[in-house]
Amino acid sequence: MDAETVLTTTRSVRRKLDLEREVPGAVLADCVRVAQQAPVAGNMAGQLRWLLVRDAGLKSKIAEYTRETAEAAWARFGHLIEERTLVSTQHLVRNLARVPVLAIPCMLTRPPGDEFGQSAYFGSAYPAIWSFQLALRARGLGSSICGYPLRDHEAEVAAVLGIPEDVMPVTLLAVAYTTQPDFRAAARPAAEDVTYFDTWGNGEAAG
Ligand SMILES: Cc1cc2nc3c(=O)[nH]c(=O)nc-3n(C[C@H](O)[C@H](O)[C@H](O)COP(=O)(O)O)c2cc1C
Repeated sequence: MDAETVLTTTRSVRRKLDLEREVPGAVLADCVRVAQQAPVAGNMAGQLRWLLVRDAGLKSKIAEYTRETAEAAWARFGHLIEERTLVSTQHLVRNLARVPVLAIPCMLTRPPGDEFGQSAYFGSAYPAIWSFQLALRARGLGSSICGYPLRDHEAEVAAVLGIPEDVMPVTLLAVAYTTQPDFRAAARPAAEDVTYFDTWGNGEAAG
């Protein structure tokens, strides 16, 4: 798969995850190897760890926390979410325990208080997380970020998985082989509508 295809067709896969097919540890390790090549702020180098949860009992506990938070959020804010996304997210959350792998990228320190520091901190995690998702896609797997359990139940999730207090689980990704090979580019604002040249608001490209 060429770079352009991987970059434009790596979607959040929720309904087309193969819940029956096991994901070998070696495949996951290979994707982490790719993710380790992502850019990182100088003071954040070496901070990221990947906790890959495959144990059924552990996944089931995390799934329970996820469902509790998500169902409460949907009851309050479900009407604000696009119907298609809501249905797909609900499917994932309600089947999370059956997803072969729950990947939790963690930083070895807690986030700093200032905005510049936070930019470097999260900016040193998400490029690697995205590289991991791209590497999965290139190998026939799919993923979706599903951060709900870490919103209200971070401490409980950390206790279940033995994550130390000073370590930050940044997010959680559901990972599995996909039940179909083809995914399309998403509808997004056109490049010319979101690009300015030289000064804010100037969409005219000179030359
Ligand atoms: C920082 C971040 C957090 C996200 N959190 C969630 C989440 O908690 N649950 C979920 O279903 N999707 C989550 N997503 C995925 C987005 O919903 C998804 O990217 C968006 O719907 C666009 O779809 P696409 O990824 O297929 O292009 C998250 C994505 C990002 C970048």
